[in-house]
Order: sequence, then structure tokens, then C-alpha cells
Amino acid sequence: MAVPLKDIEIKEEYPKTLLLEKHIKFIKQYGQSENDFEYGMTDYLRVSGMYWGLTALELVDKLDSLPKEEVIGFIQKCQDPETGGISACIDHDPHLLHTLSAVQILCIYNRIDAIDVEGVIKYVASLQLPDGSFTGDKWGEVDTRFSFCAVATLSLLKRLNAINVDKAVEFVKSCMNFDGGFGSRPKSESHAGLIYCCLGFLSVTGRLDIVEQDTLAWWLCERQLSSGGLNGRPEKLPDVCYSWWVLSSLSIIGRLHWISSETLKRFILACQDTESGGFADRPGDIPDPFHTLFGLAALSLLGFGDIKQVNPTYCMPQYVIDRLQLKPQVLK
Ligand code: FPP
Ligand code: ZN
Repeated sequence: MAVPLKDIEIKEEYPKTLLLEKHIKFIKQYGQSENDFEYGMTDYLRVSGMYWGLTALELVDKLDSLPKEEVIGFIQKCQDPETGGISACIDHDPHLLHTLSAVQILCIYNRIDAIDVEGVIKYVASLQLPDGSFTGDKWGEVDTRFSFCAVATLSLLKRLNAINVDKAVEFVKSCMNFDGGFGSRPKSESHAGLIYCCLGFLSVTGRLDIVEQDTLAWWLCERQLSSGGLNGRPEKLPDVCYSWWVLSSLSIIGRLHWISSETLKRFILACQDTESGGFADRPGDIPDPFHTLFGLAALSLLGFGDIKQVNPTYCMPQYVIDRLQLKPQVLK
């Protein structure tokens, strides 16, 4: 007997058009419980949370609605003068993810001079292990997501040569599976979020030659369910953020047209909250800035008018990547 796939039903009453003004209001208000943009974000997510909100707003050309100097000042206070790393929040331990988010924000603002750049480079390099992998912080958890954070950060700073790139590639390659996908560590199950991290890593380092393009593209397309939505692994429910992890991956390997874009658009639009604005993981759930960014960014990849072009490798506005004269590799 066939096992029924987990999916959701797209109901007629779910939204079908982009509720742009509501999303702008949602992001602007998200952090303002105390009139500070960063305030509303949970402590341990603040700098990354600011990247999600700020990038979402810039994709719809409303970056001006955030207090730029306040955001930059907050990031400055999150840089640890000792290690050079940046933390989620003042007085927390620095972490690679927040270090990348801070660098992304400052690149969008064109204000990278606001932090100690040499400190950041030293911090990223200090987290590489002899096998080429990266830990996310001094506590030592290894994951391919940190390989991506490391090379994305360094490439935005034009200092990829601060680490051993060949060793880093060797480690990511060792995380590739028989289905063409990648997991968090060698022999770990393929997962669409980590596939994005590994393809993003290979795009930045110019090593997409190691990818089994068609095998991987098949696996990624199998993430699409009858509702049009995408899941991250077999037997999981669809989730708006996987629209980004899967579509950006397909874009990087030149296979975006393999997906059914009309049904996916319908799913993404259905995840909007018609009252508060913002996108939730699935229709009817509570919206948040994370799913709002990835919903909008996925719509951008699908060529939705009203949303600026997003770069599939960095999840940043394409014009910022152009201004930095970066040319991450993509396959035809
Ligand atoms: C799902 O995680 C998502 C991932 C594994 C990808 C995370 C990507 C980064 C940390 C890199 C930074 C990203 C950008 C866009 C610059 P999950 O733990 O929620 O997975 P689950 O859905 O299986 O629970
Ligand atoms: Zn999600």
C-alpha cells in the first residue's frame, strides 16, 4: 500500500496576490515593542533577525524605514574585541552565523568600515579545523552550514585567501551523498537547507564542478508536493522557507525551470497573513521575519515584479553583489 505523502490543502480563501504594504508594516513593527528595531527579536537571534528583516525590506525598496545608524551601532556593540567575531546580541558569545549576518547588513548599507574587518577575518580563520571543516563558534559543533558562513563572509570581505579553501572544499565534498544532495557532516542525510549551504559554498569557491547536477536537481524537484509547496526532506510537510533553500539551489545549478513555478507561487502567496502581514511557514500559522524574507526572496527568483532581484548564492539584493564586483559561480 502506498504511504500517503504529508501535504496541506490550499483553500480557496487563502490570499492569491502579494500583500506588499502589509509585509512592510509587519517588518517595521516587528522589533518595535520598545521603539528599537532589534528589541523584538529573541536575544539569541537578533543580528540574524535584523538581516532577515532588513533584506526583506530592501527587496521591496523600503530599507529607509529602518533606523540605519541604530542598526549599525548595535552591530558594532556585538563585535567581540578579543576574537573579532560578532554575536547575536550584546554580551553573547560570537558566532559565525551572526558574523555573516552582520557583514551582509553592512554590505547592504555599504558601511563595512563600521566594524573591525581584520578582526572578523581572524575570527573566521580561527574556526577552521585541520580537516577543512568549520565550527560555528568556540564550542566546536561542525556543520556544513558553517562552511558556507565562513566563505560567504570572507568573500564579501574579499579575503577568501585567509583560509585553506582546498581543504574546505574537500570537507564539503565528503558530505555529498549518493542522491546528489548534501548533509551537515559526512554520512548525514541530504537536507535542502544544507544543500543550499553546500551549493552556496561551492558557488563562492568556484567549485560547482564536483556537483552531480542532474541527480541533485531531480532530488530537489521531488521536494515539490501537490499543494505546490516544497519540503526539505522526503515525508516532511511543505514550508515556505524551503521555497528559498530549494529554488536558490536549483538556480545555482541552472535548473530553476525544472520546478512548477505557478503552483509554487500559489503556495507561497497562500502563506501570507492577511491581517498582520508577513509570511508563515504554512498557511494559517504565525508569520515571522525569517519566513517573510525567504517567501519574498523565493518570489524574486520566480521573477515576481515589485520585488528586487535577489542573488541566489548570498540571499542579498543582486545590485549589492554587483557593487562589490563579486561573481559567484552559477551553472548554465
Ligand atoms: C533549515 O534548518 C535550514 C538550514 C539548514 C539552512 C541554514 C542556512 C544557514 C545557516 C546559512 C545562512 C543563510 C543565509 C540565507 C545567508 P532547520 O534546522 O530549521 O531544519 P528543519 O526544517 O529540518 O527543522
Ligand atoms: Zn521554515
